[in-house]
Amino acid sequence: MEYTVMMPAAGSGTRMGAGHNKLFLELEGKPILARTLAVFQQDPWCTGIILAVKETERTTIETIIQQEQITKINALPEGGTERQHSVKACLAAHQTGGIVLVHDAARPFIKQDVIHELVMSASRHGGAVAGVKVKDTMKYVKDGIVEETADRERLWIIQTPQAFRYEILEESSRKAEDESFLGTDEAMLAEHAGYEVRIVESTYDNIKMTTPEDLAYGGYLLKKRLE
Ligand code: C5P
Repeated sequence: MEYTVMMPAAGSGTRMGAGHNKLFLELEGKPILARTLAVFQQDPWCTGIILAVKETERTTIETIIQQEQITKINALPEGGTERQHSVKACLAAHQTGGIVLVHDAARPFIKQDVIHELVMSASRHGGAVAGVKVKDTMKYVKDGIVEETADRERLWIIQTPQAFRYEILEESSRKAEDESFLGTDEAMLAEHAGYEVRIVESTYDNIKMTTPEDLAYGGYLLKKRLE
């Protein structure tokens, strides 16, 4: 099966505190961005990569793409102020339909078998997201007081990739824009538009590099994989 991946890479990564885009931080000698791009470059099902970038970082990103011999890049649209806007810019740059995946450039540890399950599920059902079951007890808290304990059996931690038939993501994104609805992931936009979204069980190590601790854990994960 085939798919195109849309990768928002236009964030500022303030929680990482690097003073620049966290995607340029290195994991075992290569930028995080290069590590994530390589996963899709190496996946035979992936036919194209669309990367949303900040205008000021375009040259640096083009250099990484060249150095790492990432040949599947279809477009480098300019990202927006919110992640959702960066994804919208990717959608506008890709109008050929088929199955599209949205994947955070900051998640370099995604496994190919999970990607393929997502593509198959989206092709069959319309939309599917990667997730893992919650391990801890979860509670709703307001003003420092526990309101209620959530039913852990029904709670999942949602990651990317998030896979959709192109028309579904495009319509969901357009509806969200029209209604000024801001979601924290693409599935939320599809849910808002009335579409069913399936879960594909992923792995706990598909972490998003967000804070400095993630960098330390990411370095450990990568070393283990390269051994
Ligand atoms: O900030 P966070 O880690 O949640 O961002 C997830 C992904 O979305 C990152 O790869 C980041 O570069 C991207 N992003 C973007 N445009 C924004 C905000 C985030 O492309 N305005």
